[in-house]
Amino acid sequence: MEKYNSYTKISNIFTLFLTLLALISLAQATSSAVSPKASRTYKNFIKTKCKTATHSKLCIKTLNPYAPFIQTSDLKLCATAVTVAVEGAKNVSTIVTKLAKKKGLSPRDGAALHDCISDVRDSISVLKQTITAMQHLKGDAVDAKWADAKTWASGAISDAESCRDGFAEKKEVSKDVRKKINSSMGKLEQLMSNALCFIGHLY
Ligand SMILES: *[C@@H]1O[C@H](CO)[C@@H](O)[C@H](O)[C@H]1NC(C)=O
Ligand SMILES: *[C@@H]1O[C@H](CO)[C@@H](O)[C@H](O)[C@H]1NC(C)=O
Repeated sequence: MEKYNSYTKISNIFTLFLTLLALISLAQATSSAVSPKASRTYKNFIKTKCKTATHSKLCIKTLNPYAPFIQTSDLKLCATAVTVAVEGAKNVSTIVTKLAKKKGLSPRDGAALHDCISDVRDSISVLKQTITAMQHLKGDAVDAKWADAKTWASGAISDAESCRDGFAEKKEVSKDVRKKINSSMGKLEQLMSNALCFIGHLY
């Protein structure tokens, strides 16, 4: 009798042990992968929000890869849109700088181009810092930060616009270079205006 009891006890402990193991591995599996259902929810959230943005298609295309991070958070959506614009600005400066070298821009035009791109980059970087800070702020300070964020976003957009307009009129710069500046700056303006739209929704 005693032997039987200790046998069932060990058997029960063993079963418990196996159950625990199974639960732990299930927990690990669910935390490392987003379920298809959650993934659909996150993508729908992005789609719905992007419909209200100025450039919806670009919005969906650039934000979808970040769906697992954004989930259904308006603040994270906004922060990601800004981060994408920062990346876009880096891309523009790389593309345009290379092109300017290759197509032999005059030193003066080269310098002008460099200046206007770094203005845009600086504005967006400050914007990114502002949004990142907001994820940890509470209370009155938040309103002031949102107002700052709007100012920086509008500033970055008008910097990009004046850069684009300025070069569109430079007849001495080759048509190729002007066209490329126009199209890459144009895309950046779209990314920024999407970000500004989300800032507007939050504030
Ligand atoms: C920036 O360039 C990289 C590499 O070419 C590209 O994968 C990415 O989509 C670009 N991002 C934006 C926002 O233009
Ligand atoms: C400049 O880009 C915009 C779109 O961003 C386009 O509508 C316009 O036609 C372009 N202008 C030139 C001269 O290429």
